[in-house]
Amino acid sequence: MTSNKGLFISFEGIDGSGKSTQSKILTNTLIAAGKSVIQTREPGGSDGAELIRSLLVSGDKDRWSPETEILLFTAARRDHLEKTIQPALDNGQVVICDRYVDSTRIYQGVARADLRDTVDELHKIIISKEPDLTFIIDTNPEKSLVRGLARGTGEDRFEDFGLEFQKHLREGFLKLSNDASNRCHLIDGMRNREDIAESILTIVIDYIG
Ligand code: ADP
Ligand code: TYD
Repeated sequence: MTSNKGLFISFEGIDGSGKSTQSKILTNTLIAAGKSVIQTREPGGSDGAELIRSLLVSGDKDRWSPETEILLFTAARRDHLEKTIQPALDNGQVVICDRYVDSTRIYQGVARADLRDTVDELHKIIISKEPDLTFIIDTNPEKSLVRGLARGTGEDRFEDFGLEFQKHLREGFLKLSNDASNRCHLIDGMRNREDIAESILTIVIDYIG
């Protein structure tokens, strides 16, 4: 699982930060420019991973320990990589993914527990692929939590950990954007959708050359 003819872009950030909105805008913009693009998400993005998703995003917040979550998210990611991401990259397509391993690094490795090394070791053994470009959308946790819950999807298990958890996540993502600055771009997500999309597109165009 190493060949990479396409372009792999991930979106990261706290719950309700605008990742899905921006993934969709970027997908539509690149398709309009003639690129072959698939938009996907985690947990999910393949039949098996979508089944695992339903176990992870709903139900009681204490349903799984952080260690069990790492295994479930990684199992879902392996299926997603095998069935969706790698075939598309081998085909030369652009893959735009709403969340990927950085979410496990920060949700399970920093905010739920101090397990960052475990996440990284398992990632190295089972997944190993990193995105080419990652956009970390930075928003105000109070506002994002309200926005996220207002969607009423019922997929609120992680929102149920509360505001302090979202603040802790934000700190984790800010640190990650510094530590992995070769591929991570911090985007101010407190602006209107169009301005955010423009910042992201500028970076993508610059990367493609
Ligand atoms: P995420 O995928 O990060 O959870 P969404 O893209 O679903 O976030 O956005 C969460 C909510 O906030 C949605 O109702 C969406 O319409 C709204 N939203 C997204 N971007 C913005 C923005 N820049 N300003 C105001 N509201 C936004
Ligand atoms: P998502 O549907 O993207 O949530 P939201 O739209 O609220 O941002 O993702 C579902 C939840 O799963 C989200 O709360 C973050 C969490 N998650 C992890 O804890 N670890 C992971 O590795 C991934 C991919 C997601």
